[in-house]
Amino acid sequence: MAITHPSFGTLPDDRIIIFDTTLRDGEQSPGFSMNLEEKLRMAEALAELGVDVMEAGFPIASPGDFESVLSIAKHFAKDGPVVCGLSRTAPADILRAAEAVKPAARKRIHTFVSTSPLHMRVKLRLEPEQVLELVTSSVSLARQHTDDVEWSAEDGTRTEPDFLCRCVEAAIKAGATTINIPDTVGYALPEDMTRIFSMVRERVPGADRIILSAHNHNDLGLAVANTLAAIRAGVRQVESTINGIGERAGNASLEEIVMALRTRHDAIPTRNAIVTERILRTSKLLATITGFDVQPNKAIVGRNAFAHESGIHQDGVLKDKSTYEIMTPESVGWSDTSLVMGKHSGRAAFRDKLRSMGYEIGDNQLNDAFRRFKDLADRKKVVYDEDIAALVDDEVVRGHDRIRLTALTVATGMATKPTASITLEVDGQPRDGVASGDGAVDATFNALRQAFPHEVNLKLYAVQSVTGGTDAQARVTVRLEEDGKLVDGQGADTDTIVASARAYVHALNKLLVKRQRTEPPAVLRA
Ligand code: KIV
Ligand code: ZN
Repeated sequence: MAITHPSFGTLPDDRIIIFDTTLRDGEQSPGFSMNLEEKLRMAEALAELGVDVMEAGFPIASPGDFESVLSIAKHFAKDGPVVCGLSRTAPADILRAAEAVKPAARKRIHTFVSTSPLHMRVKLRLEPEQVLELVTSSVSLARQHTDDVEWSAEDGTRTEPDFLCRCVEAAIKAGATTINIPDTVGYALPEDMTRIFSMVRERVPGADRIILSAHNHNDLGLAVANTLAAIRAGVRQVESTINGIGERAGNASLEEIVMALRTRHDAIPTRNAIVTERILRTSKLLATITGFDVQPNKAIVGRNAFAHESGIHQDGVLKDKSTYEIMTPESVGWSDTSLVMGKHSGRAAFRDKLRSMGYEIGDNQLNDAFRRFKDLADRKKVVYDEDIAALVDDEVVRGHDRIRLTALTVATGMATKPTASITLEVDGQPRDGVASGDGAVDATFNALRQAFPHEVNLKLYAVQSVTGGTDAQARVTVRLEEDGKLVDGQGADTDTIVASARAYVHALNKLLVKRQRTEPPAVLRA
């Protein structure tokens, strides 16, 4: 039976709603935090990818979270995604979420409470009947602010079946239009999904009028398998994140679910609105913003996901790609024509290239990116799409930076104490620093601390190459810690030391933004 939903109208039986929680469940995992600009950029990319619902944050969690949800809510028109804010059951919590999503053309409040015996006893210290009352009161209050209300049974897969059905029934009666049963701790097996969702559909009055939703964590590596099982059991909304980021082992990965549905349409005949060709681009943007690349063998978006190393496989693929490829790399955004531009390419061609890669950037950023592209093309024989993406992301990420790296010279070698001299521009004013160190990177970071004195802890320094070859760009991630708060910075350049300096400066800029948001206190002093 087709369901009529306040945000989506009448939904065909086979339509799967893709709910993205990269900006909420994904962002709340350690090291993955994003600032407002980064969230907005990610939100735009997710909308272009075609997600139906975007969980933009947990508004009561912090002023920063509230501001992000509010800004994202203002950003999208009617043809954009439904913007969702998370809340617990307390009225203040729900009202904060309601206020944050209010400007959205299409808005949702997602309210949740734990329903498992363990969580109710230990975490909530409430009796089941009290929890049941909270289900009704929270959903009813949320419904006063929007017709699109989702209710979640936290730790749903470890909840007593009878109690789960009573809670779901209460939520539906109070006006919930989506019912989500999360596998919060990643404990369930695919057959549990079948059992739980079939039970709810059979036993709960009104379950045929609402959308059932699955939200699976990946502690046993089963999040995607469980999500597919849930769809087969009648679930029509799936909650997931790009690259599978999220609490602990993460959430079900959006790209894996979507490509499983597309590739195995024969077995699970459904449809959704994801533009799969934008998957890789979105995945890479998230990696650039957070500083965490996916592992090379990650399905769909890992560097090796479509690489054929063994002779037998290569031979087969050369004869017919389908011998070893179950989907085409192009279908998820890997381009065959990676080799693209050279030093003779002009500005117009560069802009066209960016458009074809999905970038729409303003004139100032285009000029800066083009200058860096020319510089790169002078140094590097072959400029690949990945190189262009790395430098544009680098440029865009830095759009509003207060500190800019303007010059760097490093003298190093065997039997020489490495020395770095650096020039920064801080709020438009030049600042110089010269220092030595244990290696070129250490000397550079010391020089940076001279030019812009600050006290923070360096928690992580990681280097990856953007493409192959000795002239490849290095992408460096630097993680800094101040007052228990972590920020990651990224930088890309063919020179690893320059990339390192860019990454450090990027992280410092993020700390400055954090300081503005959380004043007082902050140790950082310029
Ligand atoms: O994992 C979980 O239970 C959640 C809920 C808040 C939906 O993220
Ligand atoms: Zn979760």
